[in-house]
Amino acid sequence: MTDVKELIQGKIKTFGNNRTALMPILQAIVEDKNHLDEEDMIEVADALDISTADVYGTATFYTFLDTIPRGKYVIRVCKTISCHMAGKDEIFDTLKDVLKIKEGETTPDKKFTLLIANCMGWCHKGPVMLVNDDIYTELTKEKVIDIINEYQEK
Ligand code: FES
Repeated sequence: MTDVKELIQGKIKTFGNNRTALMPILQAIVEDKNHLDEEDMIEVADALDISTADVYGTATFYTFLDTIPRGKYVIRVCKTISCHMAGKDEIFDTLKDVLKIKEGETTPDKKFTLLIANCMGWCHKGPVMLVNDDIYTELTKEKVIDIINEYQEK
């Protein structure tokens, strides 16, 4: 994990010391430590000279900017209509069974978090899920079990 101050300064060098840097900074922090906490948001607000409410508002608006601790691998199953019709319920139930957690929960070993998400733009290949930034399409129960097994071994 990189020091948050260093991350912020790195992004400020690229995007400047203004609001344009806000999203890249928040994304970099989430990428590095999987979530944003209150101290991070205060740090960002100070660095960009904007209010913490502004930072908090942005962070909580985007579902991909997690503000609570997540597992190493965040699984997001698409719930939108095409994936729903293609069988997302079976995929989600399989994940719940395999991981032994419910929606929004993280496994006790902090490895997996299971979430539901909106359309990811792969509607023609549903059902789909994301594991961190990796997309998995045309899922079946068997495919999901194989994917989770692969991540278990990482
Ligand atoms: S409906 Fe699932 S990716 Fe679009």
